[in-house]
Amino acid sequence: MIKLTALGHACFMLETDDHSLIFDPWLSGNPEAAVSPDEVNVDALLVSHGHSDHLGDAIDIATRLGAPIVGPYELCMYCMRHGADVIPMHIGGGHDFDFGHVKLTLALHGSAVIHDDLIEYTGPACGFVVNAGGRTVYYAGDTGIFGDMALIGEMNDLDVAILPIGDNFTMGPDDAVKAAEMLGASEVVPMHYSAFDVIEQDPDAFADRLAEHDIECIVLKPGEQMELS
Ligand code: NI
Ligand code: MN
Repeated sequence: MIKLTALGHACFMLETDDHSLIFDPWLSGNPEAAVSPDEVNVDALLVSHGHSDHLGDAIDIATRLGAPIVGPYELCMYCMRHGADVIPMHIGGGHDFDFGHVKLTLALHGSAVIHDDLIEYTGPACGFVVNAGGRTVYYAGDTGIFGDMALIGEMNDLDVAILPIGDNFTMGPDDAVKAAEMLGASEVVPMHYSAFDVIEQDPDAFADRLAEHDIECIVLKPGEQMELS
């Protein structure tokens, strides 16, 4: 049994019988956050890029739990400098963990930590393909559409694809429909579409559009959970 829980915006938790991990744990200051950072208990934190709505509380949670942050090398060096354990990886590379296998994928997006007087570059943004509990999940991260999503779909038998639909900073619904077709995942879960006004989208309308393409879409409100069958 493997469970996927939406925690708000781009934050998701993946749980197998024995392990759990979290993607992009922005919870403090997230108007949609379904849990507080203090409640999170995971074996690893997968962080796609350095923007504050993704790196979020990762360093605090990782430090409290002694759990590693997994992500692009440059972002991991930033996190390590701030006291977190890290497993640095990079795009195209895979790594075996106790909970399963993680591979970093291309994402067309920026990555930096923005301070008041400085933009600190944290390498390229990424996505993740995670094999855990006998299931395969593609977490796209923040990205525009790219043709190699077809390759990701061809090389992985995806049970779920978690895709941004917010537009402005990432794919919007039109491109996400095309992305879903290329990926061929059994189910699509939309993300990154309502925490800020500029990315407001109707996920149910997106689900209807996917249904026209015979693609199943599960809209998870913050706090809602699905089982991956
Ligand atoms: Ni971003
Ligand atoms: Mn974002």
